[in-house]
Amino acid sequence: MSLDLAFFGLQQKPFNSTPDPRFLYPSPGHREGLAHLLYGVQEHKGFILLTGEVGTGKTTLLRALLSRLDGHTASAFVFDTTLPFEGLLEYILEDFGIAKSGVSHAQRLIALNNFLIERRRAGQNTVLVLDEAQNLDLRALEQIRLLSNFETDTDKLLQILLVGQPELLDKLNRPELRQLKQRISLRCHILPLTPAETREYIRTRLRIAGARDLGLFSDPAIMRIAEYSGGIPRLINTVCDHCLVIGYADQIRRIDGKVVEEAIEYFERGEQRSPKPQRLLSRWRRLAVRWGLPAAGALVLGGAASLMTAHRDDLRQLFDHSAATLAGLAHVASSLLRQ
Ligand SMILES: Nc1ncnc2c1ncn2[C@@H]1O[C@H](COP(=O)(O)OP(=O)(O)O)[C@@H](O)[C@H]1O
Ligand SMILES: [Mg+2]
Repeated sequence: MSLDLAFFGLQQKPFNSTPDPRFLYPSPGHREGLAHLLYGVQEHKGFILLTGEVGTGKTTLLRALLSRLDGHTASAFVFDTTLPFEGLLEYILEDFGIAKSGVSHAQRLIALNNFLIERRRAGQNTVLVLDEAQNLDLRALEQIRLLSNFETDTDKLLQILLVGQPELLDKLNRPELRQLKQRISLRCHILPLTPAETREYIRTRLRIAGARDLGLFSDPAIMRIAEYSGGIPRLINTVCDHCLVIGYADQIRRIDGKVVEEAIEYFERGEQRSPKPQRLLSRWRRLAVRWGLPAAGALVLGGAASLMTAHRDDLRQLFDHSAATLAGLAHVASSLLRQ
């Protein structure tokens, strides 16, 4: 366990940016999306469409879906949708574990068809997931439509999940793709979280990460995060993660609005946090209190603000060493004042 986790009483990082389904917060929208996907796959609905802005949780939902499918369902998960269709097909066969599928395009399609028929005979289902489907070019999309021709008289042999950003909808509205559009039997769109859901989202992730105190972020802090992120989970994660880093650096156990503002500022500037004169000053004050420096000493340190700005490196070094002693502090302060 790394130090910052222990400081907040956490067992793992709560705000990773990976689409880890263990951290799923089933917001009403996510729950409905997952129910749609499960129903579509289990009922052999053929084409299923899932859309949502970047970072709303599409890939996380897909992973949650795959972890809920029973052993009777095989899946192939394509995430590199910039491949031409031939490359996609090769990848799909490989992911389904179809061996020796032949080298020609026709042979590969036949191998896939045989695989699907055999699975159906054995009472098994097969799912193809195309994540980031907004990147598929029109030709690839049209070819994928043809894959849905693998069907029996009653239902589809292959369930195809088309998942992507809203640009995917624009593509599907193109006249060239009207046949594909008509085949989509289920569609759902994930919306960003509301402020109330953002609060539950943060608390859920904290709980799963092992937090004892689910109120680690104050309510005003959460409201500011909700406002800034627009309810997009990926942005919420980024801001919350920055907040914990700052909280740890400043030894603040409860993240308040001020910390959030600071995290947003660093996020906006896209740079690593570096000590600022005011921050250094407030740390000096905190250290002064904690280490019992007389009030006069703290005042002297306060007066040295401009000098500190000029001696950032000395100070940075000083604070980077947790073993800095009171004597060390006094020494640097007095040498700063002497100069
Ligand atoms: N409902 C949710 N519960 C928990 N975490 C979520 C949820 N939705 C999104 N996330 C998190 O937000 C981040 C972005 O999600 P992701 O699924 O990659 O979004 P998308 O695929 O829509 O771009 C990931 O860290 C993911 O775990
Ligand atoms: Mg994604």
